[in-house]
Amino acid sequence: MNQPQPKFTQPLKVLVVEDNAIDRRILETMLHESSHPVSLLKSAETLAGALQLLAQHPFDVVILDLNLPDSEGKNTLMSLSSKYPQVTIVINTGAYEDELGLHTLSYGAQDFLVKGKYTAYMLHKALYYALERKRLERELTAAYQRLQETQAHLLQMEKMKVVGALASGIAHEIKNPLASISYGAAYLHEQVHSSDAKIQSVLANIKEAVRKANGIVTDLLNFAGETSLRKGPENLNEVIEKSLSLIHHELEKKHIQVVKKIDQGIPHVHIDRNRIEQVLINLMLNAIQASPQGGTLELKTYCQGITEGFCARYSLDKARFGAGTTAIICDVEDNGTGILPEHLQKVFEPFFTTRHASGGVGLGLSVTKNIMDNHNGIVAIENITDHSGVRARLVFQPCP
Ligand SMILES: Nc1ncnc2c1ncn2[C@@H]1O[C@H](COP(=O)(O)OP(=O)(O)OP(=O)(O)O)[C@@H](O)[C@H]1O
Ligand SMILES: [Mg+2]
Repeated sequence: MNQPQPKFTQPLKVLVVEDNAIDRRILETMLHESSHPVSLLKSAETLAGALQLLAQHPFDVVILDLNLPDSEGKNTLMSLSSKYPQVTIVINTGAYEDELGLHTLSYGAQDFLVKGKYTAYMLHKALYYALERKRLERELTAAYQRLQETQAHLLQMEKMKVVGALASGIAHEIKNPLASISYGAAYLHEQVHSSDAKIQSVLANIKEAVRKANGIVTDLLNFAGETSLRKGPENLNEVIEKSLSLIHHELEKKHIQVVKKIDQGIPHVHIDRNRIEQVLINLMLNAIQASPQGGTLELKTYCQGITEGFCARYSLDKARFGAGTTAIICDVEDNGTGILPEHLQKVFEPFFTTRHASGGVGLGLSVTKNIMDNHNGIVAIENITDHSGVRARLVFQPCP
């Protein structure tokens, strides 16, 4: 009887794993006789031989006998499917056992055939359905992965919202007592004309502590998005110069050499100058803090054409940062300690810091990210690959 053959779109690459010469011959004949094109047909008699061939050729499907001279039963299947999870596997075995047949599916096979009980037509149909099942399985896995990523993202956003609300509440509560301490210290400074060095030093310590606490309160309010932006067209190179001048004492303390590779021709960017100054200071301070004495701080500005690859690398919304348009980039690079791979994911989380001991609060990068988000820009942190240190990259869109 002339049965219709299932339709494959691509010629198949098939590996037959079978130690019995007659069974192997039967399979090869059935595959050759089929109207379906087979572009590659190889066979192996042992598991070791099969693994070797799989390492050399990109097979679509493996027809696998479970009992081989060097491996038995489900171990044969598991060894193969764990090492080559992308390959479709159809079991071809001597006797049908209900349990084994079902189990093979959970161990990574897509179908189960019993020797001598199928025709060429049934073989091709099994291959066809097995390939389709594998394709669906791949799609399902990818969809599940996307779902997990989205869930993690939503959870992170939710966490940020809670932290933001908490942060702004705490900041508002602390602002007034801080102002009282500050006025009190100033009043005492005026009233106590003491030449006692100890009193002067205590007052100086109070003022410094208030200054630091005020800085944290400002960071918290920025993080909670409670400060409004005043955007206008600005020259990014000038903002970089201003930020540098504000931290020159930190650079000098550590004898850091500043290397500038500035493109004077970059177009203006639409930014709140003060906020971007704060972003640059955060990045530069991080760079200095991670640098050795006498280290190097490299500052670059340049334009870059946005490609599909660029969008994918920074998870940019292609519609917003349209491929083909130009972005303005500022890199802040150091030759410091670099960031441990397991910390890279966390650096934008509020209160993540490895610098507790030296007064780090862990707000610098989360505030930076919020500010860049509010400018429709990007901040990315990565380890530099050709020497130690970190590259902090800011990506802006040019003024419309
Ligand atoms: N250039 C860098 N080199 C090495 N590690 C860095 C660098 N930039 C950031 N990090 C890591 O990221 C963490 C978080 O940085 P972030 O600026 O948010 O907080 P912080 O610097 O610890 O504290 P804060 O900025 O609030 O004073 C740092 O503690 C550090 O571990
Ligand atoms: Mg910091």
